[in-house]
Amino acid sequence: MKALVYRRYGGPDVLQMAEVPRPEPREREVLVRVHATSVNAADRVLLRGQPFVVRFGVGFPRPRHATLGFDVAGRVEAVGSGVTQCRVGDDVFGASHFGAFAEFVCVNQDTLVPKPAGLSFEDAAATPTAGYTALQGLRKGRIAAGQKVLIDGASGGVGTFAIQIAHACGAEVTAVCSTRNLEIARALGVSRVIDYRHEDFTGDGQRYDLVLAPNAYRPLSDYRRVLKPDGAYVMTGGGGVQILQAMLLGALVSMTSRRSMGNLMAVVKRDDLVALKELLETGKIKPVIDRTIGLSDVPAAIRYLEQEHARGKVVVRM
Ligand SMILES: NC(=O)c1ccc[n+]([C@@H]2O[C@H](COP(=O)([O-])OP(=O)(O)OC[C@H]3O[C@@H](n4cnc5c(N)ncnc54)[C@H](OP(=O)(O)O)[C@@H]3O)[C@@H](O)[C@H]2O)c1
Repeated sequence: MKALVYRRYGGPDVLQMAEVPRPEPREREVLVRVHATSVNAADRVLLRGQPFVVRFGVGFPRPRHATLGFDVAGRVEAVGSGVTQCRVGDDVFGASHFGAFAEFVCVNQDTLVPKPAGLSFEDAAATPTAGYTALQGLRKGRIAAGQKVLIDGASGGVGTFAIQIAHACGAEVTAVCSTRNLEIARALGVSRVIDYRHEDFTGDGQRYDLVLAPNAYRPLSDYRRVLKPDGAYVMTGGGGVQILQAMLLGALVSMTSRRSMGNLMAVVKRDDLVALKELLETGKIKPVIDRTIGLSDVPAAIRYLEQEHARGKVVVRM
């Protein structure tokens, strides 16, 4: 089968198309013929092996898994002897542990759910990682109906799902994005949009129950300033300084006040995939797709994601 592989850490140029053996499903695994996948920040982090510490988890000195790609939507081709949750021929979507930038991938049955019949493979593939990260981030921030929620970095993969999920929960959502994305944010259900190129959300006197900052573009003190006295702040990514700030200063704020501040390491859970499936089925969320590309365009897409101006998700159609 065709797969996009990398044998050493580096920039997008180290990715190469190759003919590799089709994987065999183990006991609880499902072999999926990939119809669509999508590109996530994790792909660029693990491709470069930066920050360096990630190499201790995914291979040192070389990557242990030759093929990246975590989101998958496709058709079940074969199942392992212990698989009970799907059958050959089913259309499914979910999250693989590596390997989705290929024609076939083996996925644990617990991280796959049935694809709703009316949902395209592209929309299904756009959803898992960004969707469960948004869901878990909002839950960690104790999302509830009637709350005032601020999403900083609202037009990216995680942000566009976060807007819609917060709106579906009955929250009043304020989105921070740039001029070109104001209309998209409004269409997704926000009550108020702030154009970060012209306005500063820390200076308008508004206070929020929950602030979700997928990329944590501001210092922790800015986010603290806009929290209500019992508000929660959650970041899901960002640079090393922001992560360190959230871990150390955030813990201090959480210990010494009623505010909670911290970062999230999202982990795929079947229940969350089921929740996302229901949100998709009921039309409460609809993936925002920046562009749809072919497998050979993934290196260029990773370069594009590295600029951090994607609008929603970049989807790969096989
Ligand atoms: N913890 C986990 O398990 C986990 C899982 C998934 C993702 N993540 C992390 O979550 C983060 C977000 O991922 P993502 O895919 O949503 O990111 P993304 O798609 O790369 O975010 C890009 C968006 O950020 C906006 N943006 C850029 N500069 C901004 C600024 N100064 N203020 C506000 N918005 C700005 C851009 O809008 P404009 O073009 O309008 O500027 C663009 O729409 C990443 O750091 C990723 O590593 C973590």
